[in-house]
Amino acid sequence: MRRSTSPTSLLLPLLGPGLAAALLTGTAAAQAVETDSIVQAWPARPTIRDAALEARVEAALKTLTLRQKIGQMTQPEIRAITPDEVREHAIGTVLNGGGGWPGQDRAATPAQWRALSEQFQAAALQATPGIPLLWGTDAVHGHNNVRGATLFPHHIALGATRDADLVRDISRATARAVRASGLHWAFAPTLAVVQDVRWGRTYESYGADPALVRRLGRAEVEGLQEGLKDGRGVLATAKHFVADGGTRRGIDQGVSPATPSELAQVHGAGYLGALDAGVLTVMASFSSWTDSAAYVEHGKMHGNATLLTGVLKERLGFDGLVVSDWDGIGQVPGCTREDCPAAINAGIDVIMVPFHWKPFIENTVRAVEQGRIPMARIDDAVRRILRVKFSLATASAVPPTVEAMQAPELARRAVRESLVLLKNKPGLLPLPRSARVLVVGAAADSLPHQAGGWSVTWQGRDTTNADYPQGTTLLAALRQRLGADHVVFDADASHQDPKQFDAIVAVLAETPYAEGEGDVRITENLRHSRRQPRDLAVLQRVSGRGKPVVTLLYSGRPLYVNDLANRSDAFIAAWQPGTEGAGMADLLVAPAAGEPAWPGFTGRLSFPWPAGPCQFSSHERHPWWPVGGGLSGKEARVDAKPLPEPADPQPICPL
Ligand code: GLC
Repeated sequence: MRRSTSPTSLLLPLLGPGLAAALLTGTAAAQAVETDSIVQAWPARPTIRDAALEARVEAALKTLTLRQKIGQMTQPEIRAITPDEVREHAIGTVLNGGGGWPGQDRAATPAQWRALSEQFQAAALQATPGIPLLWGTDAVHGHNNVRGATLFPHHIALGATRDADLVRDISRATARAVRASGLHWAFAPTLAVVQDVRWGRTYESYGADPALVRRLGRAEVEGLQEGLKDGRGVLATAKHFVADGGTRRGIDQGVSPATPSELAQVHGAGYLGALDAGVLTVMASFSSWTDSAAYVEHGKMHGNATLLTGVLKERLGFDGLVVSDWDGIGQVPGCTREDCPAAINAGIDVIMVPFHWKPFIENTVRAVEQGRIPMARIDDAVRRILRVKFSLATASAVPPTVEAMQAPELARRAVRESLVLLKNKPGLLPLPRSARVLVVGAAADSLPHQAGGWSVTWQGRDTTNADYPQGTTLLAALRQRLGADHVVFDADASHQDPKQFDAIVAVLAETPYAEGEGDVRITENLRHSRRQPRDLAVLQRVSGRGKPVVTLLYSGRPLYVNDLANRSDAFIAAWQPGTEGAGMADLLVAPAAGEPAWPGFTGRLSFPWPAGPCQFSSHERHPWWPVGGGLSGKEARVDAKPLPEPADPQPICPL
């Protein structure tokens, strides 16, 4: 639904019919020119077809009735459908959202996940013999919905490693975990190139550099989809197409202004990597796009035929399936979450309609019967679905065990490689094995804070350590490494005398969040101590007491921390490390005799780190640290003078 806001089109209502007609013709011509500029901005890629696969697809397509075809295009949530209903409606795919578990039991075992998947599969095959069902899930940092699975650091941390081989290994391990539970499809990777870190999904992005996103996104798809036909790999999802991370002020599901070439070269970079890796599914973005070169508001991506079909399917030759986001069709003008021919006509093939799938099916069948959705479009969507389904073995080759969902040493390595040292004091780190350490900050003993969003539940903050029986907090890891008698924990730092210790380890943290619930509102700013004042209070109690303070910050984004760094001798961006807290202790404490000596701090920022509370942009010209910033353990940028600390309350940042 494009709406031109160009000066010419704004004049239109003021003109007489003759001139208006001429202008309208001109507008149509202008639209054609704009469409060309959008499509031409992307590289042309051929569609490569496999004749035997296509023959199988055509044969299966012929067996389906209209209603069965629509059933193949419908994706309910597991809380809203039973196996019997899957059979009755010939449903082709289901998903579990964050916080959706078999039997609504967050402690469901891999075997219970597997059993439900097999029930859904059996029902689907009864309805449409030979056409299997796919179960999709947000495995975005390990199989994060399932208790016991190893949770890896989120994308922002992996971006700081810049290590494509590590990302590929993590993705292989994630695919194995997803297959252990009997599922087939991971809604990952997010390929956002975030422009404003106020976005609540910044941590799902590898970084601000399109080339890094392309390289790591390709590695993730390769790792996830390896062994698809052997029942080891899973379908990957390039998401959210396109420019989800480019919205004004980082507002989740907002409007992304970009020229056609920015759309392709910045926000599209990850998709070229994913296509190079043979990604089989793409998820449409909730966001909207405005062509900032032609002043044309294209509106919601879920209704954008030029991009979903003209660019993705035709220009880029993508012949997998496009899935909508959660009730995303309901945001298309003129649509509801139960009824949206416009989204299907624009190029959505599988509609994620978690709870309103029954009316959706009825409305869509009616729309086809009334000619509002061409049958050719339905057949194209179902061909794509069948092509994807016939590209993998739906039976799993992985045992349904917790061990199959775990890769703690790999995750521990990822934690080590992702830590970024922003301030250091020569010789302070690593601490000697003999050190007596005071640990402060409640997050030091909190796996929910360590894991972040998308962890067991959607938001991640409604969990406790008991939800992560496999996890190790930083506190536990320090006790393991130094000896329990050398580590004292004082969450708010009000009970112990810092002078009695050799060093203090302070752990500060954002409260976990996901999606829009993590957006920094325009009435707020990036000052961490403004949103978590207790963290500043903890540091004020332990700094300046004659003992060195090593501070770690768990966050999903860069934050303004001058007041915190000034009260620290070393300051480490730890992102959201996941379940393997030992990866942090490995760099904080020296190895024992015979243990491997790690190469120190190798993580480097994939976003700039703010020097002020309003430095939201990924392109800040004078940040504290630029992209690529960070210290190795040996070198030390000793900030001779403290970082500037403007008075609080910081005025609301300029819009
Ligand atoms: C969410 C997210 C998307 C996720 C989907 C299913 O709203 O936008 O990334 O894959 O719904 O949970």
